[in-house]
Amino acid sequence: MLDIQATFLFCLTVSLGFLSLIYFIVHNYSSPPNRAPSPQSYPLVGNIIGFLQNRHRFHDWVADMISSTPQLTLQVNGFLGLSHGICTANPANLDHLLRSNFSNYVKGSRFHDVLEDLLGDGIFKVDGELWSSQRKIASHEFNTKSLKHFISTTVQCQISSRLLPYLSSACDKEEVIDLQDVLRRFAFDNICNVAFGVDPTWLDLNKVKYNSRNLSFVCAFDHAVEVSSDRFLSPIPAIWKMKRLLNIGSEKQYKEDIKLINDYAIDIIRSKEKKYLNKEENEPERNQDLLSRFMDSMSNLGFHNQDEKRKFLRDIVISFILAGKDSTSTALTWFFWLIAGHPHYERLIYEELLEKVATSPEQSPESLSYDELKKLHFLHAALSESLRLFPPVPINSRLTVSNDTLSSGTFVGKGWFADYSAYAMGRMEKLWGPDCREFRPERWLDDDGVFEPCDQFKFPVFHCGPRMCLGKDMAYMQMKSVAASVIYKFEVKAVDGGGYPERISDPPYTLSLLLKMRGGLPVKLERRPQR
Ligand code: HEM
Ligand SMILES: *[C@@H]1O[C@H](CO)[C@@H](O)[C@H](O)[C@H]1NC(C)=O
Ligand SMILES: *[C@@H]1O[C@H](CO)[C@@H](O)[C@H](O)[C@H]1NC(C)=O
Ligand SMILES: *[C@@H]1O[C@H](CO)[C@@H](O)[C@H](O)[C@H]1NC(C)=O
Repeated sequence: MLDIQATFLFCLTVSLGFLSLIYFIVHNYSSPPNRAPSPQSYPLVGNIIGFLQNRHRFHDWVADMISSTPQLTLQVNGFLGLSHGICTANPANLDHLLRSNFSNYVKGSRFHDVLEDLLGDGIFKVDGELWSSQRKIASHEFNTKSLKHFISTTVQCQISSRLLPYLSSACDKEEVIDLQDVLRRFAFDNICNVAFGVDPTWLDLNKVKYNSRNLSFVCAFDHAVEVSSDRFLSPIPAIWKMKRLLNIGSEKQYKEDIKLINDYAIDIIRSKEKKYLNKEENEPERNQDLLSRFMDSMSNLGFHNQDEKRKFLRDIVISFILAGKDSTSTALTWFFWLIAGHPHYERLIYEELLEKVATSPEQSPESLSYDELKKLHFLHAALSESLRLFPPVPINSRLTVSNDTLSSGTFVGKGWFADYSAYAMGRMEKLWGPDCREFRPERWLDDDGVFEPCDQFKFPVFHCGPRMCLGKDMAYMQMKSVAASVIYKFEVKAVDGGGYPERISDPPYTLSLLLKMRGGLPVKLERRPQR
């Protein structure tokens, strides 16, 4: 069974290409297509036996095949020639697909029915005008200093009031905890705070006390995303469609979940509207969350009625929750796993904290401001290096609108899927050198120890071009805050050493939409002796 805990709205796009790829590998045939592909493109050679043999290392298998092509691009031909596509790890092709010929590569409508119930017309799933109007509003907000400060305050507050007490208690009891699960709950609480201004307290010591509606929302959302993933990964879509039609099993529960999510979101919107109407002039307390901001910036958009406006707001906020729900926790899980296996780098991160932010009593790494986080170049490099090796969205997909030729000379036909593998790109010798499979944060630093960003098309972990991730800064802020406060206070020991060193060459990920760690990350915490 696939572990389909993976959630997240990237399901939409990612799954298409991802599943297509699995499908094609299962059904592939090795004869080249008749339509004379350019010399640089190669048919995907493999078979069901190859797939089954490589199932547990699917992304590595794809990376191996891509790295043996001269243009880092596979041409994939489906069973009976019914569908076609490409999968690339070539930065020039990514530039073409995601930026210079942006309008020719869309999310498309094929997955519409799978996620429409959950996402509506939210930014994550739509193309064209529907997308660009939401993008404009959202990217304006994400560029404001006030949102950055709100996000940073929110995460600091949750770390000191919830995450650290939780970890301290586990440490005192010498408990083994699943760090992946803890981080997941933490990140979901965090994104709800940022998006809605509501705190579900999913990661709470006394959570039994709070069997609140907020918590039911979180559980419904988590379940709905899981069912959406199941739909994607279903080999025979007719099965779930039939279940939906008959309203039985997981589809019945799904319907109830969607209703709960919708009612909850609409109620929050209404109560904010009420507050908005009763707002005093020059009220000092502004609501900082995304929903309140969108409401403010939307008053001049032409909606026909209140319901239409509410649906628009609901859709955009739900998309953000999906985007922020599991992505950073997945990234942090691999980061802590890598750090546990590389004590030398853990030491360097700790020393940077001592040197740069623990120098005065009012600056504690347990609660770092936005500006203090910026000083942590080594930590930033270590997180980027971890994302390079373990991108939370390992493979992503677009649908081709009309015939086109990529920069590498590869032909892409109308209706083909065009995939890129961020996972493969992090493991290409041609891009990163012979030590590309090693965890070496220094590769991101210049001689003065200052972080040097690399070309976006070489590191597409947050996507590239006009549709690049809007939450990238927020994600780094969250990851740096969590990593700094946890590493300052604890030594994180992976149970059984995390499977080092064998698992480095055979990383334990699940075959799902997000690169989740198989079996979670069981750890024990030890308090670090404070200097
Ligand atoms: C390490 C964490 C994260 C990673 C690796 C990541 C990665 C990505 C990727 C690959 C995409 C492109 C999806 C596609 O178009 O197919 C994307 C889009 C997006 N991300 Fe993130 N993301 C992360 C965190 C976040 C967070 C925390 C938020 C919430 C604020 C967020 C909000 C978004 C939104 C709204 C989009 C859609 C942008 C658009 O379509 O115009 N992301 N992200
Ligand atoms: C939900 O969260 C909000 C904001 O944190 C809080 O004011 C409200 O009381 C919570 N609702 C319930 C039923 O716990
Ligand atoms: C972009 O794609 C179109 C097909 O829609 C193609 O005709 C055109 O040549 C491409 N443009 C570039 C700059 O490659
Ligand atoms: C697109 O390419 C295919 C395959 O080469 C060809 O059969 C078809 O006529 C092309 N369509 C257009 C509109 O050029």
